[in-house]
Amino acid sequence: MKLSVIGCGYLGAVHAAAMASIGHEVIGVDVDERKVEALSRGEAPFFEPGLQEILTEGIASGRLRFSTDISEVRGSAVHFVGVGTPQKRDGYAADLTFVHAAFDALAPHLSAGDVVAGKSTVPVGTAASLAPRVAETGAVLVWNPEFLREGWAVQDTIDPDRLVAGVPAGEAGERAAEILREVYHPSVAKGTPFIVTDYATAELVKVSANAFLATKISFINAMAEIAEATGADVTTLADAIGHDARIGRRFLGAGIGFGGGCLPKDIRAFSARAEELGKGESVAFLREVDAINLRRRARAVEIVVEALGGAVNGARIAVLGAAFKPHSDDIRDSPALDVAVQLKGLGADVVVTDPAALANAERVHPQLSYEADRDTALTGADAVVLVTEWDEYRRQLDPIHAASLAKGRIVVDGRNCLDPAAWKAAGWEYRGMGRR
Ligand code: UGA
Repeated sequence: MKLSVIGCGYLGAVHAAAMASIGHEVIGVDVDERKVEALSRGEAPFFEPGLQEILTEGIASGRLRFSTDISEVRGSAVHFVGVGTPQKRDGYAADLTFVHAAFDALAPHLSAGDVVAGKSTVPVGTAASLAPRVAETGAVLVWNPEFLREGWAVQDTIDPDRLVAGVPAGEAGERAAEILREVYHPSVAKGTPFIVTDYATAELVKVSANAFLATKISFINAMAEIAEATGADVTTLADAIGHDARIGRRFLGAGIGFGGGCLPKDIRAFSARAEELGKGESVAFLREVDAINLRRRARAVEIVVEALGGAVNGARIAVLGAAFKPHSDDIRDSPALDVAVQLKGLGADVVVTDPAALANAERVHPQLSYEADRDTALTGADAVVLVTEWDEYRRQLDPIHAASLAKGRIVVDGRNCLDPAAWKAAGWEYRGMGRR
């Protein structure tokens, strides 16, 4: 099928390449010339496992192209819109500027019978407000949220755990859902749940899923705070409650909390939208979820200060990790960098290392020192602070080797991912988050 993807950021670039990889003919459009040039050369503009391969393959096959010229979307049966919806500068709400610009640019090129599939994460009510605009052209709007995780984006797009389509009532909506089923034929054929619903539900599925995940993380981090006050161990607690299938162990990783381009801004945008709807109280707990999350970053800094005897001034601190999570070079709202910046602000001599995110980190926080080589970063450190659980740190860093490089013997495990016994045995003073 001929498809277009408007917006070639994280979501759009992966979606375009993934759709080409399952056999569609895809044109990706973005206003950013440099991005389009890089993508056209088959270069992934960010670190995402597997993306490079499907981009190269798609371009070589002739099924995947990128352009800055929106008129090239003409003739596509489905137009996916996957532009960003960042947090507004002056508040918590989502900024829909890019969504409106994309629909404005797209509208003149739509033909009767086309399907426009919104993929951006938007406040509930957005699709209903955009639908008449699309309908004027004879096309139909569906809302088809995306649930990909960075680091697993290719796999999540090609083989998602569910597909959701918010469609208008009536025959046009039914037909549009059928077309989307054809687009996602490999998933549909293998029995992946395909949920057809109304616009509002589809939009809410997305934001409520992220709100639930954020709440789960903040719940366990709240338990970490209680564990710290009582001498309990939050990791054992998470293991124990996680055995209850109704609770589940995933996303009960206590530590310095969630960051990235989605969870933080999505819960804030959800709160703002609920306020507008006069239902702020219904999701008032999300403010608390946000507050707990931010407190854990501050707590990690406090633990480092305590471990270093009350002051970090002049201490050399090796910070392992800059990305908001492993398998990503994304530093948007990264708790890891936040901890590094706070320590630097307290006068520490901070050296940050990360296998993928250093270039991005350096652009945004030039005041920090960066070292690509992990061992060089560790050399002479008074304290080691793990803030992103890359395998390079949690599996491949031998505590005896680390002790041969560092000056001090303090390790702060901001992700509760190290084996405390092994580090203690190698002479380290181990400090976790909510761990004994
Ligand atoms: C999140 C959702 O998981 C995706 O389903 C969704 O599609 C995406 O947002 C989006 O809206 O686009 P992502 O931001 O890639 O995906 O990252 P997650 O894997 O959800 O992790 C978010 C943050 O939570 C990371 O900083 C991670 O370190 C942290 N986290 C995760 C914890 O602190 N503890 C955990 O147990 C799990």
